Amino acid sequence: MAVVVENLTYTYPRAARPALDNLTLHIPEGQFCAIVGANGAGKTTLCHALTGFIPHFYRGTLAGDVQVVGKAIAQTPLADLAGEIGLVFANPFNQITGARFTVREEIAFGLENLGLPRDEMVARIAEVLALTGLEALADRSPYALSGGQQQRLAIASVIAMRPRLLVLDEPTSQLDPVGAREVFTVLRDLAAEGSATVVLAEHKLEWVAAFTDRVLALAGGRLVADGPPREVLAAPEIAQAGIGQTRYTIAARHASERRLAPAGKPLPVTLDQAVEFFQ
Ligand SMILES: Nc1ncnc2c1ncn2[C@@H]1O[C@H](COP(=O)(O)OP(=O)(O)OP(=O)(O)O)[C@@H](O)[C@H]1O
Ligand SMILES: [Mg+2]
Repeated sequence: MAVVVENLTYTYPRAARPALDNLTLHIPEGQFCAIVGANGAGKTTLCHALTGFIPHFYRGTLAGDVQVVGKAIAQTPLADLAGEIGLVFANPFNQITGARFTVREEIAFGLENLGLPRDEMVARIAEVLALTGLEALADRSPYALSGGQQQRLAIASVIAMRPRLLVLDEPTSQLDPVGAREVFTVLRDLAAEGSATVVLAEHKLEWVAAFTDRVLALAGGRLVADGPPREVLAAPEIAQAGIGQTRYTIAARHASERRLAPAGKPLPVTLDQAVEFFQ
């Protein structure tokens, strides 16, 4: 298992209620897993718990157990987790070092800190440029890229370090649909190749539905649903938990209620499923 979380309860310092409430979940290696939930549901907090920011940076009260790639997070110093776990944030612009003139050099920046031999660095840079589709942009300035390209650069810089778990907190929130598609495609390929396990907090349910293997739904710090995207995102409880639903699910639910579609058919969460549903 890439991630083992057992009975995790976490309360921020001075907070009245836990931000994560008795979570148990296991994520196998190579899975592309989304965390969805309304604002304040605990998505970012779960990302912090998987990357070791909780408890090493955020104090508060922690109970239960988190293990990532076989390491007990609470007992492992952040410096020792850095090689195993990569983290990507919402705003790609903030992740550019500002110290390098080209995309290639930007990716090299993190690798230099690992003290890798030059041949190994060159090989890794070529590999992640290919994986993220940035080869043609390798000699451009990071600042000359679109938002989607910058976010792919941030992902390339992180995966060049070969983390076994990649955690992303709303990496497409600053991106247009073209950029979001680029990022989701890279993440899906990365997980499918077995290069890394990918955990992504995301509000955009239609992208989650079309690209991920599994959806964890949080509400008030609790895990309210966990399963394949269609099972989780089409469930009525998800809409009630303030998580929303895809436009495909909304249309199909209305049609079923008005007897314009057969009752009892599973509701769609993607365009392809909607086409099949309405046939
Ligand atoms: N640093 C902090 N100190 C105290 N409470 C916090 C802190 N960060 C988050 N919280 C609280 O923890 C709960 C979960 O917040 P979290 O940021 O994990 O939610 P989220 O699902 O990421 O929301 P969003 O969609 O807005 O990003 C909320 O009640 C929030 O107010
Ligand atoms: Mg958040």
